[in-house]
Amino acid sequence: MTTLPPTMKAWTVQSNGAPSASTLALTTQPTPAPPTGSNILLKVTHAALNPVDLHLLNVLPTWLPFRRVATPGLDFAGSVLAVGPGVPADSPLAVPGTRVAGSLGVAQIALGTGSLAEYLVVPAALVALQPAGITASAAAGLMGVAGQTATLMLREAGVKSGMRVLVNGASGGVGSLVVQVAQAKGAVVVAVCSGANEGMVRGLGAEEVVDYTAREPVEEYLAERFAVEPFDFIFDTAGSQAIYRRSPAYLKKEGKFISIVGGKSQGVVPFVRNKLLPVFLGGTPRPFRLLGLAPNGDSAKEVAKWVNEGLLKQAPIDQEYAMEDVVQALEKLASKRAKGKIVVRVAGDAGDAA
Ligand SMILES: NC(=O)c1ccc[n+]([C@@H]2O[C@H](COP(=O)([O-])OP(=O)(O)OC[C@H]3O[C@@H](n4cnc5c(N)ncnc54)[C@H](OP(=O)(O)O)[C@@H]3O)[C@@H](O)[C@H]2O)c1
Repeated sequence: MTTLPPTMKAWTVQSNGAPSASTLALTTQPTPAPPTGSNILLKVTHAALNPVDLHLLNVLPTWLPFRRVATPGLDFAGSVLAVGPGVPADSPLAVPGTRVAGSLGVAQIALGTGSLAEYLVVPAALVALQPAGITASAAAGLMGVAGQTATLMLREAGVKSGMRVLVNGASGGVGSLVVQVAQAKGAVVVAVCSGANEGMVRGLGAEEVVDYTAREPVEEYLAERFAVEPFDFIFDTAGSQAIYRRSPAYLKKEGKFISIVGGKSQGVVPFVRNKLLPVFLGGTPRPFRLLGLAPNGDSAKEVAKWVNEGLLKQAPIDQEYAMEDVVQALEKLASKRAKGKIVVRVAGDAGDAA
């Protein structure tokens, strides 16, 4: 194994709250110990950010003894430096320099491990090989939480050629991938985003774009425009209770409303009502599914397969930030105006380019 420096740069959480120079600091931390079991040690080149990072900054206590030095960040791309004895010697992961990407899971986050650090130890089960032909920056953006969540949504739907789908939040990290894959599978995609992002979303494969800022209330416009051409599925990555409540006007009876936005941001009441309230008591007569991702290597591999098979051609990246600029990157994320993914360049290396 390459000899590692004794210390590394890593962002650490100083206190709970919105990202700022007082809640987060770029610090010097000990480099992780060599990997044990089925873990692998990575040199992280890129990390991608997700809305859940902001949520974790707010809620995860920093006073717990095992989280005193907590690093934020879930998504990573990097190269293998060493593997534990549990990784088979004939696995591609056992070859130093192999490029991988994925997302950390609950167990790592609970212990304060994060991807905004130069070196990272992760279970081999959480990573997938970076597909040839994409950059490490794109791999971080695609194969982490956003891409893995898109696999959940498309698996739930089983989109087939000729189906009609609506994607709300089409210009975001998850939505921009759902649009591409649904279109590549032969669906007719109608996208909801702001007018400023129309060109980008059409470029991803949307046949029609609804600018929700110009068509208020957007659910009434959808009801008028798509009553005679209803959708098979509605993918909601922006969390619109109004679009769900009005969906019988534009979602087929046998269709499904598939959401990933619930919990604290929406409140428990809409979720319970959408799932359980009978129609005769005012419930919406369309199936509502709320999906939750537990990051895993199989989902990351599915994203890589989409890339390899040409279903996912673009990795929309809003901006790539330097490691020093993580607070600004998180502030942009918090603005909810990112077009695609926000990526942090943790440490460049010679083999970064595709
Ligand atoms: N359940 C899960 O497992 C899971 C997994 C991943 C993400 N999520 C959640 O899913 C949501 C989306 O995640 P993400 O990573 O895609 O977020 P993101 O990239 O930060 O989303 C930003 C996008 O949201 C769009 N947007 C903001 N307000 C909108 C509105 N009212 N209508 C339509 N679009 C709107 C913006 O587009 P415009 O500027 O064009 O409006 C922007 O492009 C977040 O709430 C996240 O927490 C859940």
